Amino acid sequence: ISLQPYNTFGLDVKAQNYVNIKSIEQLKDALAQYAQSDIFVLGGGSNLLLTKSIQTPVFHINLKGISVVSETEEDIILKVMAGENWHEFVLFCLERNYGGIENLSLIPGNVGTAPMQNIGAYGIEIKDVFESCSAMHIKSQREEQFSKEYCQFGYRESIFKNSHKGQYIITSVEFKLTKKNHTLRTDYGAIKDELLAMNVSTPSIQDISKAVIAIRQRKLPDPKDIGNSGSFFKNPVISSNLFEDLKRQFPDIPNYVVSDSEIKVPAGWLIEKAGFKGKTFGNYGVHENQALVLVNYGGADGKDILNLAKLIQNTVVRLFNIQLQMEVNII
Ligand code: EPU
Repeated sequence: ISLQPYNTFGLDVKAQNYVNIKSIEQLKDALAQYAQSDIFVLGGGSNLLLTKSIQTPVFHINLKGISVVSETEEDIILKVMAGENWHEFVLFCLERNYGGIENLSLIPGNVGTAPMQNIGAYGIEIKDVFESCSAMHIKSQREEQFSKEYCQFGYRESIFKNSHKGQYIITSVEFKLTKKNHTLRTDYGAIKDELLAMNVSTPSIQDISKAVIAIRQRKLPDPKDIGNSGSFFKNPVISSNLFEDLKRQFPDIPNYVVSDSEIKVPAGWLIEKAGFKGKTFGNYGVHENQALVLVNYGGADGKDILNLAKLIQNTVVRLFNIQLQMEVNII
């Protein structure tokens, strides 16, 4: 089958063997059946660049369901199965007035893959509401529960991208959300301005979600219209020394202080300065409103997009002496 409907880049890549996983029992059985071969685990397909056909069995994780684990007057813990769509889960919470993930509205992908790269936007990361997750060990087919500490969350990082890479399939995630006295994060510049424009002075979590959705829709292409995987690169953290050098050359360089000796700079700004913003190369290119996003206008080859990413990396190293790291998984 073609994996085109299952990756947000919309790349037409073939899989020889596709297994649609709908229950934990079925997952166990299928893992046991394919114990001798490597497998390819597919979630929401929103952080992938497929550059070649997949020979190993594709396990498409479509486990569904949301249930209450426990609740008090103040908060609630929900268990969400891995195959639930992230934004639909956000909407589920907004309808019931559960707070904590409103800033993460409209992020593509599924709940089960969200902890892998600790998804984040507008001042919030999934780790801020994460209680635990269950994951199946591929080799032993045993389910294990992992605490927040165990998962070693960092900026777009977790244990599942590092020492545990390729060893586990996340089956469900537990989140702790507030039922009242929500802690609102509006300090991310763009949100404040958006709320002002909306004429909202005391925002609700629903207002914040609306603001985030408006900002995202303005800047980021909707994968339904234009294939993409969100930010293609991570924002690099550089030394204060290098930053001071760059600042002399480029006084307008945006920056966030990470520590006494480290500064984070937006990759989108570097890529724009390097002249790539809005550049198209036939059926693929760099998005016109956010240079951090590479796009497939239809029918592109993942290899071409990968080569563009490498060209961007090389140009950014030459101009700024900064090595950009890819955020998307290259297959
Ligand atoms: N900028 C440019 N040119 C561009 C893009 C950005 O100059 O083409 C500048 C902006 O003007 C701004 C700064 O870079 O001063 C930051 O831009 P923005 O607020 O759009 O955020 P970002 O740092 O580019 C990160 C995340 C996004 C997340 C937003 C909002 C990463 C790799 N990306 O982008 O996450 O939505 O912040 O919190 O950290 C994703 O991971 O897929 C993703 C979209």
